[in-house]
Amino acid sequence: MEKNLGIKSQTYYPFTAFLVSAIILVIFYLKKGENSLSAEDSTTKHGNSSERCNYYSGKWVFDNKAYPLYKGSQCPIMTEDFACEKFGRKDLMYQNWRWQPHHCDLPRFNGRRLLESLRNKRVVFVGDSLGRNQWMSMVCMLVSTIPSLDNSLQLQRIIYRFQATEYNATIDFYWSPFLVESNCDDAWEHRGLENRVVRFQAIEKHATHWADADILIFDSYIWWRDSQIKFLWGSFDDQNGIYKEVSMPHSFEQGLQTWSDWLELHINRHRTRLFFVTMSPTHSWAEEWGRSADQNCYGETQQIRKEGYQGRGSDPRAMQVLEAAIDKLKKRGLTVQILNITQLSEYRREAHPSIYRKYWQSLTEYQLSHPSNYSDCAHWCLPGVPDTWNELLYAHLFHD
Ligand SMILES: *[C@@H]1O[C@H](CO)[C@@H](O)[C@H](O)[C@H]1NC(C)=O
Ligand SMILES: *[C@@H]1O[C@H](CO)[C@@H](O)[C@H](O)[C@H]1NC(C)=O
Ligand SMILES: *[C@@H]1O[C@H](CO)[C@@H](O)[C@H](O)[C@H]1NC(C)=O
Ligand SMILES: *[C@@H]1O[C@H](CO)[C@@H](O)[C@H](O)[C@H]1NC(C)=O
Repeated sequence: MEKNLGIKSQTYYPFTAFLVSAIILVIFYLKKGENSLSAEDSTTKHGNSSERCNYYSGKWVFDNKAYPLYKGSQCPIMTEDFACEKFGRKDLMYQNWRWQPHHCDLPRFNGRRLLESLRNKRVVFVGDSLGRNQWMSMVCMLVSTIPSLDNSLQLQRIIYRFQATEYNATIDFYWSPFLVESNCDDAWEHRGLENRVVRFQAIEKHATHWADADILIFDSYIWWRDSQIKFLWGSFDDQNGIYKEVSMPHSFEQGLQTWSDWLELHINRHRTRLFFVTMSPTHSWAEEWGRSADQNCYGETQQIRKEGYQGRGSDPRAMQVLEAAIDKLKKRGLTVQILNITQLSEYRREAHPSIYRKYWQSLTEYQLSHPSNYSDCAHWCLPGVPDTWNELLYAHLFHD
């Protein structure tokens, strides 16, 4: 009996081995197929397609054939704070730049392919107005490249919602400039709030609005940067709440800690893909690039050409804090992909709305005669730089 068994397993062995190698071969060819598919989309230069390319090491290349990816007029649903051309900007070269990584090309944005992969799914951009800038860009990239797209856009009190109806794909923007709870959380009435208060370790109220998403793209920085933050122990209605002032980068670190803890406990690792967009640079102090101190991005039509340029609006300590938070999450088994847009956007002092946008409050005589006094050097014109951020997002979605 034992001997028989021995013989049996011996006869089976070559067959099993054959089967295993056949399966390995099939997997190998399937993988190869996958790779050649990606190679088609992102042609790697120098033939080293096997290595992952660093998309962020590169340069801006003038390309007025393929860029802009869409015209502002093809995106009638664009909100008016990014519609620079509509608001009178005449120099439009800022629209013609393509981000070119040194060792590969970014895949070409294909809206149908993206929506196909988002069928019955929900994407949420979570963060401040720069997140809204990127969300709006994504919406424009989709509606303009697919003119027949059945869609709806709703700017609701809590959520800005874009839906590609035929795909049942939802792309939302959720306002929470600190990610955690704060007294600036009203998406419509948060302007001019100087006394900024963040509730210590409180994020649940926000998270319920995006917990079920398939793809989450976070951004948060500038609100932490722009003022001294008070942390509140207690609720906003609580008369006896305890307040403590915390400065950068500790405030940001504390906020990200709360955010991380929430993700670690609640995110479904098999379902949800996570992204974090790094600091978006501002160009509010023209003396940094050799102009007078009372100037800013207003009137700029050229990029900054100095390789590795960093403005003082981008706090390197915040970058380190973010990196540490993401590393820590990785050790706990949660991957957050960084969209490291800071350096590539640093060069683009000429791509902000400056005065070419809708202003919600009326302007004073003084301002009208001093345009740089009311220039917006934080957001970005559309079409423009955030389209590139979305091309990078697209590259990660399909090639990582
Ligand atoms: C291959 O890619 C790597 C990483 O992107 C790069 O450093 C290297 O120079 C490339 N090799 C060649 C031959 O270009
Ligand atoms: C539509 O998409 C949502 C997710 O955004 C999903 O919950 C829902 O089941 C989908 N509807 C259909 C009919 O598949
Ligand atoms: C982003 O890229 C810069 C280089 O441009 C690097 O110094 C920084 O560490 C990166 N940030 C993160 C969070 O990975
Ligand atoms: C704009 O002018 C006002 C009034 O003179 C001044 O208080 C403010 O600092 C100026 N802002 C900028 C951005 O120059």
